[in-house]
Amino acid sequence: SLYQEHNRPQYHFTTRRGWINDPNGMVFYEGEYHLFYQHNPYEREWENMSWGHAVSKDLVHWEELPVALHPDKVGTMFSGSAVIDYDNTSGFGKPGKPAMVALYTADNPDREVQCVAYSLDKGRTFTKYNDGKPVIDSKEKWNSRDTRDPRVFWYKPGKHWVMVLNERDGHSIYTSANLKEWKYESHTTGFWECPDLFELTIDGDQNNKKWVMYGASNTYMIGSFDGKTFKPESGKHYFSSGTLYAAQTFTNIPDSDGRRIQIGWGRVAQPGMAFNNMMLLPTVLTLRSTKNGPRLFSEPVKETAQLFEPAKQWSNLKSDDANQKLKEFYNADRLRIKTTFKLSHATEAGFNLFAQRMVGYDMNFNMLNGMFYSPDDMTSMEITADIYIDRTSIEVFIDGGAFSYSMERKPDLNNKEGFHFWGNNIDIKNLEVFTVKSIWK
Ligand code: FRU
Repeated sequence: SLYQEHNRPQYHFTTRRGWINDPNGMVFYEGEYHLFYQHNPYEREWENMSWGHAVSKDLVHWEELPVALHPDKVGTMFSGSAVIDYDNTSGFGKPGKPAMVALYTADNPDREVQCVAYSLDKGRTFTKYNDGKPVIDSKEKWNSRDTRDPRVFWYKPGKHWVMVLNERDGHSIYTSANLKEWKYESHTTGFWECPDLFELTIDGDQNNKKWVMYGASNTYMIGSFDGKTFKPESGKHYFSSGTLYAAQTFTNIPDSDGRRIQIGWGRVAQPGMAFNNMMLLPTVLTLRSTKNGPRLFSEPVKETAQLFEPAKQWSNLKSDDANQKLKEFYNADRLRIKTTFKLSHATEAGFNLFAQRMVGYDMNFNMLNGMFYSPDDMTSMEITADIYIDRTSIEVFIDGGAFSYSMERKPDLNNKEGFHFWGNNIDIKNLEVFTVKSIWK
């Protein structure tokens, strides 16, 4: 039956059929998290870009709804964002019924333009403003077709809308009073596609806030923002690597919650299935101080806790012992494993699933699965890895979300090693295994 196919991820969002890529229009409204997404409803391949739509009340269980935006005369529906226009600045709303306003890119062979659509029925149906004609067409300004992925939010101090837009070699800022007329303000080079921009506290301190700007490939910069210009105060860092791409964060999360919640596209092939790709786990983004300055941390949202049942827990093991104990879980197709291990006499150590390296740390070069990573406490040489396996994918969160990465799972059942720690004489301080419920009925 639906969602029960043998390669269907069991606790990540996938579409019933067809292709998905970027999350779009992520907005919270009247108890529902809306996840729109780049979608080809007809085939497993990237084509016919439309906005698919799913809703959730808890960020864990999703209900897929009919396609929200279909291609039109102006183009196919590329990525964008959505906001609730509570003050009816656009005039699209009705008394007591603020509009959900989507800003999207229409893509055609000649150009990419920015357009507006609105919904008065909680995103179930949309009306295209001005018959889908563009509100921004900046191809000539930049002599570039790559002008896309509008990311819009309300800038409270200035009482105006802000749009971050990928243009040519970076992200531009536009402002607007009504979501229809936009004024170009500034540009930051060094990013590509799917911008986001938001303010976070450092270590939860309300008097110490910074802005974060990122692009599709998970690089970010920390800086300041005055409503018109982003001023970087850091170099570029990574918050994640691997299959994660084009992540977006929710708008209109209530102040009483205050979290910055992100969902990213998992570029994960789904072999033999009528659908392709997936969304990765929703995470909460925070800025925390480290020895190298403030950094973006990313951890699964607390709502995911309902999925996990503790199965086994051990402490202070040597790797041979741990590898024996994990044998009973070799055949699980989904699992969460959390472990803290200490390199001790090893310069390189890690944790595999069959031949696949889920965690591999090289102390000499500070390399974690191919990316530079320097633990904050270099004296203890302990690494904590929180690993989420779901049939076709693996997500790993290191040291409380200081770094994360994701990969396709490559099951190799002929290799008899199963789960195994490796490295010379390492100490496994803690090892926890959780079984995982399915989110599908
Ligand atoms: C990123 C992206 C966006 C674009 C969309 C098209 O994955 O290339 O820049 O809007 O995908 O599907």
